[in-house]
Amino acid sequence: MKYSHTPVLLTEALDLLDLHAGDVVVDATLGLGGHGQEILKRIQPAGKLIGIDQDEEALKYARKILPDDNSVVLVGGNFRNLDELVKGAGYERVGRVLFDLGVSSLQLDDESRGFSFNKEAELDMRMDRRGSLTAKQVVNTYGYPELVRIFEEYGEERKAKEIAKRIVEARKLKPIVTTTDLVTVAFPEFRGQARGIHPATKIFQAIRIEVNDELAALQTGLEKGFKVLETGGRMAVISFHSLEDRIVKRFFKNLKTGGSGMLLTKKAVKPSWPERQRNKRSRSAKLRVIERIK
Ligand SMILES: C[S@@+](CC[C@H](N)C(=O)[O-])C[C@H]1O[C@@H](n2cnc3c(N)ncnc32)[C@H](O)[C@@H]1O
Repeated sequence: MKYSHTPVLLTEALDLLDLHAGDVVVDATLGLGGHGQEILKRIQPAGKLIGIDQDEEALKYARKILPDDNSVVLVGGNFRNLDELVKGAGYERVGRVLFDLGVSSLQLDDESRGFSFNKEAELDMRMDRRGSLTAKQVVNTYGYPELVRIFEEYGEERKAKEIAKRIVEARKLKPIVTTTDLVTVAFPEFRGQARGIHPATKIFQAIRIEVNDELAALQTGLEKGFKVLETGGRMAVISFHSLEDRIVKRFFKNLKTGGSGMLLTKKAVKPSWPERQRNKRSRSAKLRVIERIK
């Protein structure tokens, strides 16, 4: 299957990473290889792309579209183990690291993955299908206070209590199995088409973050990413919601204060107006870049 994926903030991120021929670059979120392909163009000859993803399907897809030669190493795993994964690929230190967070269109468009409220599917949402926690388990086994906490913390959902109550009541009668079940239970007044933002956006985001432990993985991933950077190396992070951006902003600020990093983006870079028009998904994107100075 061919997926239509448009890499977000592509030129901005790669320009700020300042890529050169021969660079060793880690793409910690390879996805469908959109950024990866462009990185490769900029680092040849003699450059190396180490592409990491925890989703085997994404790696399978990327393997088909990226060159099958020694300019690319693909590694399956979670970026919270970035240092080990990079070491396994044969490197202690690298020149550049990129994170492009969130889900790929492959994950969103594949009905069997249960990420999207627009597609009827069993609730799953695991980016790594070897993971043991699924969205179905979260929705059917978490207690009321835990549901409220994740909807409030990870979804910033104002009606967290009301929605959690509906879920807890509904599942006493029968398990909530599919994406549609969840939308129907959580938003009984909602009929079919959403004008503007779909009401389930925030709780779906919250459950996805919980299932994939995304915020803890990000914190550790950033630490490991900086750890493997050589002096003069650069790290770029593209985030898609305020919870992620807050973690990135704070992490970079601490590096600056501690004297080991220089911010290359005083303010987060946002997509241009034409990009926002072309690609709806880019609208919430923010890019931050740091250089390791010691
Ligand atoms: C937005 S997509 C990346 C798209 C890619 N930059 C492109 O242009 O095709 C994010 C990817 O990161 C992966 N991912 C998210 N969190 C991860 C983690 N903690 N470890 C490894 N991969 C992760 C997802 O599986 C997904 O494929």
